[in-house]
This record gives sequence, structure tokens and C-alpha cells, in this order.
Amino acid sequence: MIKTVLSKTGEPIFHLRAGDASYVFSSFHGFLIHLYMGPAVADDDLEYLMVRVGHDSVVPRPADTSEYWFSCDIAPFEYPANQTGDYRPSAISVAHADGSTATALRYVSHEIVSGKPAADKYPAVYADENEADTLIITAKDPADGVTFRLYYTAMRDLPAVCRRVIIENTSDNAIDLERAYSASVDFAAVGEPMELLHLWGTWGRERTMERTPLLHGSLTVDSRRGASSHHHNPFAALVGKSTTETAGMAVGLSLIYSGNFDITCDTDPFGCTRLMAGINPTDFRWHLDPGESFVTPEAVFSISGEGLGKMSRTFHRLYRKNLCRGEWRDTIRPVLVNNWEATYFKFDDEKLLAIAKDAADAGIEMLVMDDGWFGQRNDDKSSLGDWFVNEEKIRGGLGKLVEGINALGLKFGIWFEPEMISPVSKLYEAHPEWCIHVEGRDKSIARNQYVLDMTREDVRDYLFEVMSGVLSSANIAYVKWDFNRNLTEAASATLAADRQGEMFHRYVLGLYDLLDRITTAFPKLLLEGCSSGGGRYDPAMLYYSPQYWTSDDTDAMERLNIQLGTSFVYPASSMSCHVSASPNHQTGRQTSFVTRGNVAMAGAFGYELDLTKLTDEEKELMSKQVDAYHRYYNVINQGDLYRLIMPADCVNGKIGHCAAWMYVSEDKSEALATFVVIRTSIHPVYFLKLQGLDPDAVYADDNGNEYCGSTLMNAGLNLTKNWKDGDSLVMHFVKK
Ligand code: DGJ
Repeated sequence: MIKTVLSKTGEPIFHLRAGDASYVFSSFHGFLIHLYMGPAVADDDLEYLMVRVGHDSVVPRPADTSEYWFSCDIAPFEYPANQTGDYRPSAISVAHADGSTATALRYVSHEIVSGKPAADKYPAVYADENEADTLIITAKDPADGVTFRLYYTAMRDLPAVCRRVIIENTSDNAIDLERAYSASVDFAAVGEPMELLHLWGTWGRERTMERTPLLHGSLTVDSRRGASSHHHNPFAALVGKSTTETAGMAVGLSLIYSGNFDITCDTDPFGCTRLMAGINPTDFRWHLDPGESFVTPEAVFSISGEGLGKMSRTFHRLYRKNLCRGEWRDTIRPVLVNNWEATYFKFDDEKLLAIAKDAADAGIEMLVMDDGWFGQRNDDKSSLGDWFVNEEKIRGGLGKLVEGINALGLKFGIWFEPEMISPVSKLYEAHPEWCIHVEGRDKSIARNQYVLDMTREDVRDYLFEVMSGVLSSANIAYVKWDFNRNLTEAASATLAADRQGEMFHRYVLGLYDLLDRITTAFPKLLLEGCSSGGGRYDPAMLYYSPQYWTSDDTDAMERLNIQLGTSFVYPASSMSCHVSASPNHQTGRQTSFVTRGNVAMAGAFGYELDLTKLTDEEKELMSKQVDAYHRYYNVINQGDLYRLIMPADCVNGKIGHCAAWMYVSEDKSEALATFVVIRTSIHPVYFLKLQGLDPDAVYADDNGNEYCGSTLMNAGLNLTKNWKDGDSLVMHFVKK
């Protein structure tokens, strides 16, 4: 619901009600002023919140307002402009024909529509007229007439607000955008110190949660790598120092974008904090001739007054139901076995069929043939781009192999790394100019490969044709879409010299275009995203691939941090998690088959080890795990997640070092809790307090023990026993 009332200046105040949250802002002498974001408030007129005192005498005041207290230097803006009295980081900066970059925004009009109009064909939340309302503000720069359309979508049943901006060059001259963020909000200082929570990482250690106190100045998490990256996820949350999983304020900001992004959190001397997200202005410049428009990616706020858990559950529901699309959004995903850690590049049709045979016996539903099936790809030194089956390995061709796999009752999936080209490849011999490079400059190389220029239509056409050829040549149900290096020397032969600043963003749009063409041509295909593990695990990729390879680190103990970190934004259904070999290939750690299964059952479940080498006992455990996963599928993938114990919370505690989480079905009739002991301690005492249950209901576990919901949540389960390192337990509850 979106309400408007008039303020004392006769201008509109907008009150967006999204689920149980309020988002309020107003026009004040044409400036768009942020008033409030948080748990719902009943009043619509919050203009009393606008007055700020405490600015000093050096601050300029706008020429067109007479209020003595109003200064752009401290006013809380909705979309802060550039060089016009606000010295904090700006959300928009337009370079004009005369080279100047002063930019201003004044409210002109607004419109409210039911649902959510699509701005373009690129990734964004979608919602119909029963799910959301959208406010579209039209603002203009009074000096040159450039138009800014600010889109705000308030979800009706979720405390989530989506924002994006369309900038239209309605001036008489060409302009260049130097900054064009998707959203910005200025939070007033509140009583308690605030922190920024974000997800940093590297290869094998993606999305590690970190909370850091704000400083007077800027904190930035960003990417300049051409991909959203392992290093920072396009997400941050502003939280109170005392905010926990279950209490306190948490405003999450997630950017639906796969390229260079920036999230900046800037706190001024008066304690006002600006949180903004958008395309990274570094190496960005976008030219707009008169009449042309630019659409920013979408940013999503999840607003919680009840801690981090609720903030995450809002993201989960929104992304699961209103961002993921297509056949596989709701369809039960197959349990798969992937041959990468089983064989690496050393496999042939016989080996794959042998793995598939054991997989079929255990009830596994799909075999995925990973890297190494094409060209002369026997290691990572060649053949990317040559997407033709290597018949020395796959004897008799792909069709025959897939028929053999299908005959065992399994679906078949295949690996591609479409955006890459090996210098040792037929494609490179034919088209050396297709890789991203700067003429006359050395090309940096990573994993022996270059990146194809996805801004080029001829490159995308080639990839579409060659991939379509493979995908139509056999009964292929799934594609793992990998991306194993970042961009360097980013320039494109298709862009004029003064438009090279568009390269990074155009690369991402080119990628989306190809993903769109493939998913449209093959609507039944299940796409799994991957980027050396979770290096491009972002909301935009979920728009095409509802599941993503979470990390190349498959060690169950390491995965606890990675998966729980990922869960701050991303739903379980998007998290691809596999049981791999012990000792683990990345860490050398030994973990029991049971615990590896319990930890991998946190999303899209599968195996990634040589099944032919398992003992009979392990094979039996595997069948049991597959069966359990089928039984628990709905509560894991469609339920609400509660993080009970984060590994970092108890490193030195007397309960040893452990982790626990649980899923509860939306109607609270079923729950599944997992408890993992990373490192035990002497005489440990473990009372595990559950969350999210119906306090008045009675729940029975799989052994017939009965508990009241209130007891499970307030007193907890007594898990006191002499656990060993790496032990784990899964507990299933059904409401009586
Ligand atoms: C990186 C991925 O993360 C792995 O799972 C595997 O597919 C390799 N690439 C193959 O080269």
C-alpha cells in the first residue's frame, strides 16, 4: 500500500507500507527527503523528522529555499545529487556538454500503480497487482532538464522495498553519467551505535559474514573485477550494535547485479548514515544522447525490527518466489552426482556410466558431466570455446552417452564455461579478436584463459549457436554455467574511444542477453550458476539459474561458515551443496559420511565423489541420505530458515565450537533442525533452543518423542552428551 498526504509546504509525503514495515519520504521545496525506514508506523505525516540542527556556518544553502535550517550538507536525501551543497558521496553525477558535473534533482510529479512495471528485460524482482504497489517519482534537474524516474516497489506481504532509477536525457545536449546508483538512503542517528554487516571472501571462502562498527567517514564493499566476485557480495546491512538474530533493527540492501558494484556506507559528523548501492563508478561512464535513457540495476531493501533472521527470511521468500523464474522455480530439483571431484579431467564414457550406475542404485536422479568433455580439454590449458564433443573420451558421441545414462533412470547435465576462450583453441585461431583486450597491450591471463567480449553480438550469436547445437543434440536436462576468471584490460572493439567506460556494464548486459536466449530457447533446462565456486553468486544470476554452486570448498566444516554466510541473503533452494570425498580435497580434513550428508542437506543436494569407490556401508548411508532429502525437501527448500548457532558465536564458549540451524514450514507444521559439533569440549552442555515453531502446538520427532513448541523454543532440546569432533545430528519434527 502506498499513501500520500500533503505536507505544510503543500508537497506530497509518501508512506510506503511493505509488509510490516514503513518507508516514508517527502518532497520539500522539490528536494526528495528521506524521513523513515523501519517497523511500521501509523502516522503518514513524518515531516517533523526532517528538521536537522547542528550544521556549521560553512555549509551552503540552496538558492531556492528560505528555511534557515535547511542545508543540502545535512539533509537526509533519497537520491543525493552532485556538487550542489551535499558533500557526501553522491548517487548521481551527470557530466554536461560543458564538462561541469553539478547535478540537481527536483520533484516534478508522481504516479502510483498496482504491481511492478518491468523497466527492461534484465534481472529484477517481478510482482503482480496483488503482490506489490509501485510509486514512480519523476524529478528533473532544473538547470538542464535531465529527467530522473525513481521507482519504488513496496511488496504487500513482505517488508521489502525495491528501488531503481531510469535516467532520461531530456536535455538538448549529450550527457555522460559518471555515477548512477540504484538506491540511497540517509538514516538519522539513533540512540545506539550502528554497524555494517557484509559478506566478504575469496576463492573457497565465499560470503564470510563480518560486522564492523561504522566510522565517521566511508566504508565500502565493492567489486572492480567485472563480476560481483568472491571478494564481496553485492549486499550489506545496517544493524544496531545490539542487533541479534532475533531482535533489533536490521536493514539489508541487496543489489540485483553481477558486475562491478559499489555499496558505500558513509557517516557524517552528525551521525547521519548514508547507505547506497549501485554500479561501481570506477571505470564507469555512460553516454546518453538526447532522447536516450539509462536503467540502473535494481536494489532491494529488507527491513526488519526483529533481528537478522527476519531480514534474511524476507530476502529468501522474495528471491525464491519473485526473482527466480521458470520451470525450476517450484519444481523439485533432482539430486545429482557431479564427476568433477570424482575424476577431474580424467574420465570417459565408461567411467561416467559406472558412476551413474551406482548413483541410480542409491536413488540419485541426475549425472552431471563437468569440465573436460570437449575439444582437446584434458587439463585446464586448452579448448575453451571449442564446444564440440571429444569422441576419444565420449566414445560414440554425446547422444549415446546420454541414452546410456537415461536408460539407468538418470537425467543428464553438462558443464559449459561460455564466456571464456583458451589461447590454445580452434576458436582463438579463428577469432583472436573476440577476446577482451586492449590493442598494443599485453593480455593478462588467468587459469590459462581469456574472457570473450560479451558486448559483441557476433560473439553471443556464436555462443548461442554452438551451445544450442549441443543442447539439442541429446536429452540434456541441466547446464552448469561456469566462469573462472575476472576481467582485465577491459576494452571493446565495438565501442568508440569515448564510450569505453561502458564496457564493464555492457559485458554484464551481454551475459544477461545470452542467458536469456538460452533459457528462452530451452525453457525446461535447469541452469546452475558457478564461478570457481560462488564467485558470481548474486541475485541477478538467480534470475536465470535458480541454483548456484556455493563454493569449491566442499569440506563440511568449512561449508558451515560459507553456507550460513550465504544464508544472510540467499534461499536454501539456491544453494548447491554436495557430499564430497574424505579426506577432503581442499583441506585434507576427515569427516564422517553422515556429517558430510547432514551439512550438504542445506539446499540443492548432491554428491561429488567417485561413487564406485564407496564401501557398501557408505553406499547404504548414501541411499538413506537421498531418501531423507526427498522426505525433507519441502521444509528445506520452501521453509523459513532460522540460524540457531553461528560457528563464530561459540569458538571459546563452554559448549565447544558448533553450528546449528533449522527450517520451519510456512504453516509451522514441520521443522528440521541440524546441529554440528565442529570441535567438542570437555563436559559440554548443549541446550539447543529452537525458533519459529508454533508455541502452542505439540511436535513429535521421528522417534515418537513429543514436545511442546514453547518448550522447544524457550527451554530447548537437551543435547548434552560426549560429542566427538565432526559429529552431527538432524532432528525432524511434525506438528501433531
Ligand atoms: C570451477 C568450478 O567451481 C568447479 O566445480 C569445476 O566445475 C571446475 N571449475 C571445472 O573446471
